[in-house]
Amino acid sequence: MATTHSAEAPDRDGLQEHFDATITRDQRIEPRDWMPDGYRKTLIRQIAQHAHSEIIGMQPEGEWITKAPSLRRKAILFAKVQDEAGHGLYLYSAAETLGADRADLTARLIEGRQKYSSIFNYPTLSFADVGVIGWFVDGAAICNQVPLCRSSYGPYARAMVRICKEESFHQRQGYELLLTMMRGTDAQRAMVQDAVDRWWWPSLMMFGPPDDASPNSAQSMAWKIKRHSNDELRQRFVDMTVPQADKLGVRLPDPELRWNEERGRHDFGTPDWDELKRVITGNGPCNDRRMERRRTAHEEGAWVREAATAHAAKQAARAKDGAAA
Ligand SMILES: [Fe+2]
Ligand SMILES: [Fe+2]
Repeated sequence: MATTHSAEAPDRDGLQEHFDATITRDQRIEPRDWMPDGYRKTLIRQIAQHAHSEIIGMQPEGEWITKAPSLRRKAILFAKVQDEAGHGLYLYSAAETLGADRADLTARLIEGRQKYSSIFNYPTLSFADVGVIGWFVDGAAICNQVPLCRSSYGPYARAMVRICKEESFHQRQGYELLLTMMRGTDAQRAMVQDAVDRWWWPSLMMFGPPDDASPNSAQSMAWKIKRHSNDELRQRFVDMTVPQADKLGVRLPDPELRWNEERGRHDFGTPDWDELKRVITGNGPCNDRRMERRRTAHEEGAWVREAATAHAAKQAARAKDGAAA
């Protein structure tokens, strides 16, 4: 068997060996390199899901752009939501280097065949939610994404470097908004506490199910797509956030949350995994609304895509005429 290699199937063993050695040496796999089908499929799924999350993630906060309490807050929020659109676009581009087609990925999202982060299926009830999303959701995104800057797939890792810089601005703008509100009136402080109470547990769920219920994690870690387990990342997020909550003067809604001297880390309660399951399978508080909005935006954008395609064709024709002349 080992000696019968056709032109279509070159030395498969050599390629696999080269791939494995690249991963072992902590070097990057690039689009031109051979990679196992499973690696390619896993990456496309993960990057697409990440891209969809950035795009759907524009909605909960986007609803507050027209209701921002000042010009300054409006400008900050506008910039942040625009950044998220940019993150989506870098990520769709990274998926395209693996042979995926962006229009196809969008179709999969709209038809409900690909997922996005569970967190964006919760409603934003007050302007304090904008601050808490920046603090918790962008904070959790940072915990997840900083290790992805060392992911084994080159285009994904490089996209993450830029995205993480912007996420850290997002987190700080959220925290700064909350600091301002906490220095305000009793009503404003109550709004912040209420938003913290509603977003804390869903934010912990952003890291995915516990390790023993996350069957694909081990393979992703062996491929060095993922660097840390869900539970490890969740723990990091809790350890990072508790001192920030103290400084802000809010209470995190977990009676089991306390410092564990022995472990040198915080102990904390168990998220409601049934709730996560419900939200992931389309039955969260805002799933229908988010998908409906995304579908409408896609339909309303059809003329832009047609115009851009016509323009590109015209440019190409002109370039060809110019070259022929
Ligand atoms: Fe983002
Ligand atoms: Fe962000």
